[in-house]
Amino acid sequence: MDILSAEMIMNKYDLSHVPVISERVKDCRGQPIGLLDRECISLTCREVEMEWVKGGKVCVTGAAGFLASWLVKRLLLSGYHVIGTVRDPANEKKLAHLWRLDGAKERLKLVKADLLEEGSFDDAIMGCQGVFHTASPTEILEPAVKGTLNVLGSCKKNPSLRRVVLTSSSSTVRARDDFDYKIPLDESSWSSLELCETLQVWYALAKTQAEKAAWEFCNENKIDLVTVLPAFVIGPSLPPGLCSTASDVLALLKGETEQFQWHGRMGYVHIDDVALCHILVYEHEGASGRYLCSSTVIDNDELVSILSARYPSLPIPKGFEKLDRPYYEFNTSKIRSLGFKFRPIEEMFDDCIESLVEKGLLSLHSAHQRPLS
Ligand SMILES: NC(=O)c1ccc[n+]([C@@H]2O[C@H](COP(=O)([O-])OP(=O)(O)OC[C@H]3O[C@@H](n4cnc5c(N)ncnc54)[C@H](OP(=O)(O)O)[C@@H]3O)[C@@H](O)[C@H]2O)c1
Repeated sequence: MDILSAEMIMNKYDLSHVPVISERVKDCRGQPIGLLDRECISLTCREVEMEWVKGGKVCVTGAAGFLASWLVKRLLLSGYHVIGTVRDPANEKKLAHLWRLDGAKERLKLVKADLLEEGSFDDAIMGCQGVFHTASPTEILEPAVKGTLNVLGSCKKNPSLRRVVLTSSSSTVRARDDFDYKIPLDESSWSSLELCETLQVWYALAKTQAEKAAWEFCNENKIDLVTVLPAFVIGPSLPPGLCSTASDVLALLKGETEQFQWHGRMGYVHIDDVALCHILVYEHEGASGRYLCSSTVIDNDELVSILSARYPSLPIPKGFEKLDRPYYEFNTSKIRSLGFKFRPIEEMFDDCIESLVEKGLLSLHSAHQRPLS
């Protein structure tokens, strides 16, 4: 890589808004050609590319959701310009938490788009280098596939597109009964559509179908796709209302067993880790394929035992009915090999409980505030 290619990168990506980089390239350009440190130039050019990626424009679909709001927060903190799609941009109450985020006034734009309206995402996605597709319809079956293909159709029309990161789910990996439980499940595993139908686990079925459809579409259309497969997401909720998984956690902490009974065994992950993982696989040049995103897989009984010991004042259930389910673990070495470290289960629930208390949805006895770790 020489000065010319550095200049070409500068022009191609219009880096006039990245002063650090323009300064560095100028420095290198100022040196006599014979003494030029090629290492320095090529490093500079890689940095130029990376700065372009990091300061660039990205779209987050369903930006007001539980996970997406946290992702928007992290993207803004990293310096990105974010186009968030929402179904109702006029709903100030539902969107106020996004406008309060650091950098939102300068670098966030919210636009209207609906997964079920063909071409609805064209404007939001056009000109973006990255697309984080997290929106997920409530009517989950056919709309999940249709909505994903609709977003990818808009990605296909966008010549600036660098990479799409799709939020899938660990349920696309673990809903199967034909594996050796001694070998942890990894990204090569796919849930069985037949088993999902038999067990009527519509969410896992819809997510598996949607991710498979996304891979097919992106392979056919040469779109750089990476998928993130989060386990059950735990952590503070930025939106004013709780999404269904956050409501289930609140119910558990208030003593209800119904919502968690069916989980049996489940992987858990901190919401901030999920957001950071999305950004890591977007930015990392070598990231490709699927990435399981889970810190710890534990049984319900183990979970409530940890939580009761930590929060003795909460009426957390003592135990659950045993289910006849295969034991499984997740092998998350793929994301860890990119340098990623997950926060432990205690920290994700501490942060979640603290936020529920702040929102006035849960009360702790004053003697049992957030435990000292
Ligand atoms: N929470 C978890 O534990 C978990 C675990 C694994 C994977 N995931 C995945 O993470 C993603 C986000 O989930 P979440 O838990 O953050 O759920 P959420 O809070 O319910 O967010 C879902 C978002 O999807 C949007 N949406 C729904 N129907 C839409 C439509 N027809 N058109 C456009 N947008 C639509 C909603 O937008 P509006 O604001 O306009 O209503 C909402 O912002 C989903 O893909 C989910 O499958 C979640």
